[in-house]
Amino acid sequence: MERILITGATGLLGSSLVPHLKKCGHKVVTHARTTQADFMFDLSDRVKSYEMLAQIMPSVIINLVSLTNVELCEEQVNLAYLANTSTVESLAYWIGYSGADCHLVQISTDHVYDGTGLHTEDSIALTNNYAFSKYAGELAAVRVPSTILRTNFVGRSQVSHRESLTDWVYNSLRSAKNLQVLSDVYFSPLSITTLSEMIELVVQRRPVGIYNLGSRNGMSKADFDFAFAECLNLETNTMTRIKTCQATFWKAYRPKDMRMDSSKFENVLGVTLPYLNDLIPQLAREYNENA
Ligand SMILES: NC(=O)c1ccc[n+]([C@@H]2O[C@H](COP(=O)([O-])OP(=O)(O)OC[C@H]3O[C@@H](n4cnc5c(N)ncnc54)[C@H](OP(=O)(O)O)[C@@H]3O)[C@@H](O)[C@H]2O)c1
Repeated sequence: MERILITGATGLLGSSLVPHLKKCGHKVVTHARTTQADFMFDLSDRVKSYEMLAQIMPSVIINLVSLTNVELCEEQVNLAYLANTSTVESLAYWIGYSGADCHLVQISTDHVYDGTGLHTEDSIALTNNYAFSKYAGELAAVRVPSTILRTNFVGRSQVSHRESLTDWVYNSLRSAKNLQVLSDVYFSPLSITTLSEMIELVVQRRPVGIYNLGSRNGMSKADFDFAFAECLNLETNTMTRIKTCQATFWKAYRPKDMRMDSSKFENVLGVTLPYLNDLIPQLAREYNENA
């Protein structure tokens, strides 16, 4: 059993990861900024961060704190730095100077890639402030014993204030709302459920280094959205395929191909990750069961 501190525990991933790790028998302490948790404060406050860490003395920290709003990161570089980089610097600094036997699991993103996938871990292409600030966070994490997981995920959100990609498709189609889906943006996400299982494995095994963690192959977001809708038997006549050059709802540049080669993770951890095609029926079942 590990004594795990999860920072940013009440967001999209944390709300599923916390119960999963507790179910696996770990002692989990939660941190959040604005929602109920064991510790509540802005993690860019270094003094409070060190006080919390000294009090908990975690054996593992899983850092989920992030400013994930790509547009806001582009407009407010300082905020992106504070949330995505400075917070990781504090956690890593504490691990270093306290001498604690503590492993950091830093959750990063497939957004650090662009160009034609499948990308291996060394093919970095930083194209916006979100990617830049997350990558800078990785550089802080590698200074201490850590696992950096570059990932993306889909699946049902357990919190009302955060909607996942699949929530957005599901909710929009069920209420016959128009939605535009991107035919020239490619990704290779895992389900939140599989990602939570893989993070638990990382907690047990503590592999040091940077790892891609996604599904095999991947596909365009539009193909994914249509396949997901088909599995749910949802009418798709309000869903339109568009290209990124037609997207008027974004200002910041978005990478077009974030598909990852996750074979390093598979080889080191001895697991076989699912194909994205095979994840879609499982995701649809999750939505049907909780409809
Ligand atoms: N969502 C995705 O599709 C996706 C894809 C790829 C990678 N990721 C990565 O996965 C991780 C988790 O993402 P997520 O979607 O679960 O994020 P999320 O729902 O936005 O949750 C992030 C949490 O961090 C907290 N936070 C932000 N700035 C903070 C600060 N300065 N101090 C304390 N707390 C702060 C937020 O608190 P408030 O609610 O109070 O703001 C929020 O609870 C992130 O590292 C993200 O980069 C996410």
